[in-house]
Amino acid sequence: MVIKVEKAAWLLSLLLVLSIILYVIYITLPVKRPLINDTFFVSENKVFLPLPQKVSNLTVEEAILSRRSIRDYTDDPVSIGGLAMILWSAYGITDPERGFRASPSAGATYPLEIYIVVGEKGVAIKDGFLEAGVYKYEPHSHSLLLVKKGDYRSELMKSALGQEWVGEAPLTIIICAVFERTTKIYGERGQIRYVPMEAGHAGQNIYLMATALNYGAVVVGAFYDDSVATVVGVKPEEKPLYIIPLGVPERPYYKSFEDIGEYITSRRG
Ligand SMILES: Cc1cc2nc3c(=O)[nH]c(=O)nc-3n(C[C@H](O)[C@H](O)[C@H](O)COP(=O)(O)O)c2cc1C
Repeated sequence: MVIKVEKAAWLLSLLLVLSIILYVIYITLPVKRPLINDTFFVSENKVFLPLPQKVSNLTVEEAILSRRSIRDYTDDPVSIGGLAMILWSAYGITDPERGFRASPSAGATYPLEIYIVVGEKGVAIKDGFLEAGVYKYEPHSHSLLLVKKGDYRSELMKSALGQEWVGEAPLTIIICAVFERTTKIYGERGQIRYVPMEAGHAGQNIYLMATALNYGAVVVGAFYDDSVATVVGVKPEEKPLYIIPLGVPERPYYKSFEDIGEYITSRRG
């Protein structure tokens, strides 16, 4: 009897050790990133991004399940193809005939303007890295206009109440709005409802595409508006609404549908 108990305890310990080893192997495995055609070209101060393409093997429900606000990033850059897909998901063209976008917009007024602050070695291109700087996304030509050169991440972090993830992420997306485009049709309702809602739509698309490509992001609403506007160098009519640092997650987040099912079942009494 004693021998049997000892044997069972021994087997249990072995199982425990094996599971710990498997878990450690799982979390240290390199993240598999979908392959993206990274073809792009530069002309004067414009970067013509890799064209939108099918890249992910994750279903929408899997991306929703795995989306988490990620504030810790490795030192790895974001690929130019990944960045292109994330920007296209935010505000890229999906209806060429009418110029409609990936995010819905009240009366198709499209009040948002999207900037990125790219850090030193923040975006990987074929033979190196995109020059650090502030760029503006132009949806129709799916390109980035270089607004100014330099690594502005620390300054942006200070403008965001010192939130470290803003200073540490390889890049940060800044969603701004030109309110007048919407308020001239919808008045105050455009100001207090439609435009902020639209920033939310674009922000969620960024989260989901980042997740689908194994990147991680966090939407940041706490910042000094004027200070962010100055650091990014936006036009006077463009008001920053969201800043979204983005990079390769330090720790992958994972839950299965079974985990969620178990939780829901346990709450049903
Ligand atoms: C409007 C808004 C503003 C936010 N502002 C910040 C922020 O300033 N800093 C931050 O770290 N997270 C910010 N977050 C992220 C939330 O903290 C996060 O969504 C929440 O903790 C839930 O976690 P989850 O996104 O992983 O589900 C913000 C989220 C929203 C929707």
